[in-house]
Amino acid sequence: MDLFEYQARDLFAKHDVPVLAGEVIDTPEAAREITERLGGKSVVKAQVKVGGRGKAGGVKLAASADEAVARATDILGMDIKGHTVHKVMIAETAPEILEEYYVSFLLDRANRTFLSIASVEGGMEIEEVAATRPEAVAKTPIDPIDGVDEAKAREIVAAAKFPAEVADKVANVLVKLWDTFIKEDALLVEVNPLAKVASGEVIALDGKVSLDDNAEFRHPDFEELHDKAAANPLEAAAKEKNLNYVKLDGEVGIIGNGAGLVMSTLDVVAYAGEKHGGVKPANFLDIGGGASAQVMANGLEIILGDPDVKSVFVNVFGGITACDEVANGIVQALKLLEDRGEKVEKPLVVRLDGNNAELGRQILTDANHPLVQRVDTMDGAADKAAELAAAK
Ligand SMILES: Nc1ncnc2c1ncn2[C@@H]1O[C@H](COP(=O)(O)OP(=O)(O)OP(=O)(O)O)[C@@H](O)[C@H]1O
Ligand SMILES: [Mg+2]
Repeated sequence: MDLFEYQARDLFAKHDVPVLAGEVIDTPEAAREITERLGGKSVVKAQVKVGGRGKAGGVKLAASADEAVARATDILGMDIKGHTVHKVMIAETAPEILEEYYVSFLLDRANRTFLSIASVEGGMEIEEVAATRPEAVAKTPIDPIDGVDEAKAREIVAAAKFPAEVADKVANVLVKLWDTFIKEDALLVEVNPLAKVASGEVIALDGKVSLDDNAEFRHPDFEELHDKAAANPLEAAAKEKNLNYVKLDGEVGIIGNGAGLVMSTLDVVAYAGEKHGGVKPANFLDIGGGASAQVMANGLEIILGDPDVKSVFVNVFGGITACDEVANGIVQALKLLEDRGEKVEKPLVVRLDGNNAELGRQILTDANHPLVQRVDTMDGAADKAAELAAAK
């Protein structure tokens, strides 16, 4: 889960990484009171989960409370690389900035380790620096057991050639930032710029944090970091039911057991759809192994509740959960939905293969549900589902 800058700022503050005051708002007028409290000037910063906000005009200095309201008016509603700005942070203005550095910690999957990236040439051009002068960017692997203590922090400071007068302060920030990274179970913590200001202090003026969703169970407080406004309501409903669901923009609803099978189902449906006016898969939904009638019903409910869905393709390869159990699951799920008062009106194409396929197919045939069609090959079923979606 990627965080907004203001959320990253709050996490930094929690772990004693030096930051400036900042508050998030969603109406321009709210900028006035905060700016007054900050001493009559502030920085108005677009909160979007995309880089390059400054260059896009999403970061503006305001020399008065009136100006802060005006800048917030400009920035709220702005489009930055396809992201609409719904919130701005009103931040304290840094004292005169003398230098801008870059520091980050991240999970380096390719090398199976953690990595520190640091540069004394931070700021808005860091991507350019990294691309044209990689020697200006120091990469230091971090042992996950040892982590970053003061000695390691000094090694990073030396590798990136930080000036002697900020070495202690930057090393201190690195230790605190590592603390944030580990304690919050982050995959990335990035500060750009880490600014050296006139007083000689170094301050994190902008932060990016990405948290590891797999660690959410250890962090009940992560829940409130979710961007509920941006979440798709179907995805939110699926999450509540513990379903592995991703909304896509096509018309054929997909249910399968096992992520690999579902991925290849998306491909065959997209391919088959080309012959039927370009219909596409409407979602990814993996009901996993051991899918009970209850899980099937929950999955069907989500998919049938998607107004974009015109037909549904249930693609199951029986393994530990045999096809007869899945077939019973489908029949019971349809009944369960009807009992719940859900009107099932969209055609379902079901392909069963693998363990006890014959038995499963027989169960569907015997149930003789008016909306369910059996097609026994994956390509054939994909074609049928695409055809039904196109006909709607
Ligand atoms: N609180 C602040 N006070 C003074 N100047 C600031 C402040 N915050 C940011 N700036 C200046 O604005 C520049 C851009 O800000 P920031 O790094 O937050 O946005 P950005 O880098 O464009 O966004 P992103 O990191 O999303 O690409 C900084 O490099 C810094 O010079
Ligand atoms: Mg930045």
